[in-house]
Amino acid sequence: MIIAIDGPAASGKGTIARQIAAVYGLHHLDTGLLYRAVAKAVLDAGHSPDDAQRATEAAVMLDPSKFEDNALKLQVITEAASVVAAIPQVRQALINYQREFATKPPGAVLDGRDIGTVIAPGADVKLFVVASPEVRAARRVRELRARGEVVEEADVLADLLRRDERDSRRTSAPLKAAPDAHLLDTTHLGIDAAFRAAVDIIEAVRAGRKRR
Ligand code: DC
Repeated sequence: MIIAIDGPAASGKGTIARQIAAVYGLHHLDTGLLYRAVAKAVLDAGHSPDDAQRATEAAVMLDPSKFEDNALKLQVITEAASVVAAIPQVRQALINYQREFATKPPGAVLDGRDIGTVIAPGADVKLFVVASPEVRAARRVRELRARGEVVEEADVLADLLRRDERDSRRTSAPLKAAPDAHLLDTTHLGIDAAFRAAVDIIEAVRAGRKRR
């Protein structure tokens, strides 16, 4: 079983994806980490994230077994990841790894922006997770402060909106719901309620398949 979970930053898709993978016994890939790792490699080497050649080289050389999650979640990497993610050759270099991951037995949950549209268009279940920008910014502030970063809510909201815009407007695999994705709005849902809503959708889709 392949489950594709897409949506904008801090919509809750990562938490839902992790929990769904644990409950159904599936592999989980946070595909945002791939773009973050490319961004970090480019910045560490002293280049600009919009340098397409350097970013593509970093994407080709990427070794996902060596990721350090904490360093990849820093705000400076977040911004640069959205820039490298708009480069078509970078996306192209990361496709095979994601598609191979998706077909690992017994199945996988992948979360990102283009899983249901580009990486796994044949996924068994597709969720598109959204929440209001204000609620997403408040969640991100809590997360960043828990990590020890000093941030202002207004700045985080502005960053988030800028990133949404860049991720949705780019020509290569923009953030958008697949036509057959199920919308899940977590604006008024806590973590448990969002997880239960996701399970309800998955179970309804599976039940519908069995009946056919
Ligand atoms: O999900 P995230 O915030 O960790 O993602 C970081 C950036 O990577 C985000 O700005 C958009 C990009 N991204 C993407 O373009 N496609 C994906 N499948 C996942 C992330």
